[in-house]
Amino acid sequence: MADPVSAVSPRGLLIVFEGGEGVGKTTQWRRLIDYLEQIGQSVVALREPGGTPPGDVIRALLLESGHDLAPATEALLFAASRAELLSRSVLPALARGDVVVLDRYLLSTYVYQGVARGLPMDGLRSVNQFATGGLVPDLTLLLRLPLNESLVRTRERGAPDRLERETEAFHAKVAAGFDASLAAAWQSQHPECGPIEPVLATGTPDEVAVRCISKLEQRWPERFGHTAARIV
Ligand code: TYD
Repeated sequence: MADPVSAVSPRGLLIVFEGGEGVGKTTQWRRLIDYLEQIGQSVVALREPGGTPPGDVIRALLLESGHDLAPATEALLFAASRAELLSRSVLPALARGDVVVLDRYLLSTYVYQGVARGLPMDGLRSVNQFATGGLVPDLTLLLRLPLNESLVRTRERGAPDRLERETEAFHAKVAAGFDASLAAAWQSQHPECGPIEPVLATGTPDEVAVRCISKLEQRWPERFGHTAARIV
């Protein structure tokens, strides 16, 4: 089996957004895509679960169907949607040298299905190694907001999906799982997740967008250096 660390995207960049419900992740995902396009990067915007015709069917089954899925079924369906998205969209884009900005990836599985549902991490790791071929993100931006604030935002949005309807205890485990992934020891034990950077998600969308762009500037100064101030 290929070493996941050596399977980092060969030419393009894979940037992932992660975080619990209601942290403003999708807004920031959109903002970063707009910014990258403005500075002339070739960008592909994708999200999980879904993003492909079969993946959208899986997404509906996972989030909207009303079926009560066993935790293992849930994990396998997320992995199946991921496999489809990678082979159809992510890998071809990376091979072209594009920047792929992905709304959720492997870390969501580790946190939601591993930490919050309690599925064994070894199983999740091997299923996802199989699904992804070991593709490691170049950077994950983890948006962070106090749990009570994010739960209020989720409630205000209305029409909750199957996972948003989970208990507060479940969402507390999700938040704790994401927090744990920021520790250096956790990241060295999970090299398949790549580097994970925290981004404070309080304040205006503009303020959060600047924080996200700064993370790219810090990591790739030649490619993104000092562009945030010009754009946002
Ligand atoms: P989505 O509507 O995309 O919401 P969000 O804006 O929160 O990303 O819903 C995706 C849901 O699926 C979200 O509750 C997180 C969950 N999820 C998992 O449980 N495991 C996974 O591997 C992924 C990718 C998502």
